[in-house]
Amino acid sequence: MTSTEFAAQASGVSKGYGAGDTRVDALIDVSIEFRRGEFTAIMGPSGSGKSTLMHCLAGLDSADSGSVRIGETDLTGLSDKEMTKLRRDRIGFVFQSFNLVPTLTALENITLPLDIAGRKADQQWLDSVIDTLGLRDRLSHRPSELSGGQQQRVACARALAGQPEIIFGDEPTGNLDSRSSGEVLGILRRSVDQLGQTVVIVTHDPRAAAHADRVVFLADGRLVDELHSPTADSVLDHMKQLEAS
Ligand SMILES: Nc1ncnc2c1ncn2[C@@H]1O[C@H](COP(=O)(O)OP(=O)(O)OP(=O)(O)O)[C@@H](O)[C@H]1O
Ligand SMILES: [Mg+2]
Repeated sequence: MTSTEFAAQASGVSKGYGAGDTRVDALIDVSIEFRRGEFTAIMGPSGSGKSTLMHCLAGLDSADSGSVRIGETDLTGLSDKEMTKLRRDRIGFVFQSFNLVPTLTALENITLPLDIAGRKADQQWLDSVIDTLGLRDRLSHRPSELSGGQQQRVACARALAGQPEIIFGDEPTGNLDSRSSGEVLGILRRSVDQLGQTVVIVTHDPRAAAHADRVVFLADGRLVDELHSPTADSVLDHMKQLEAS
């Protein structure tokens, strides 16, 4: 099995914050692989290390020990400059705080990462992303003129536009009503099915997790369980079992 099968992998990753009495072990020896073209949901109680894991995988934070790879690239040895370039060229992000640029229109925000990288969008793909997310008539609006849900959809479109190797979303539907949430998850699902996109999201919502191919569960900084072909009911059952154990 070659590493190219995986869009991302963490091997023995540990990460702590603080020292002495205030020391928190946010991740303890976490090893996990993300197969290309697979949609994974990361779940677990508040404080279990989900965001920390995602930040380490995406090169936004560094592990204390262990290694992280994006494709075949080991992040450990990269300079800040190389890391910035890797994030820009190979990773798409959708975070709960949308990080849209207030002075740019929705369309300009969507194509910003591509513009910075000097790449051109595949117009057909861009059009389908914009239409599927229902943003066609909002493209000239600035973020302040958009609802929270619309801003989140712009953030999603921005992540999808460049067809990055992997998309990371930390509670990407956390602020959305169920309809917008379903739309966003639907387009992530379609990007996996139709484009072979690799997607990893953190979510607290069993219905959101049910869009994934696989759900992994974190507890107290450790990977404790994994569920394949989840349904909202099977995810909920699993969450209850984990709480009880
Ligand atoms: N910058 C930091 N400084 C100190 N402790 C931190 C920091 N970031 C996270 N932690 C701690 O590390 C642990 C894991 O945090 P993390 O944000 O990864 O949890 P999470 O699973 O994403 O939680 P939530 O569901 O609430 O977002 C928590 O105990 C948290 O308090
Ligand atoms: Mg979090």
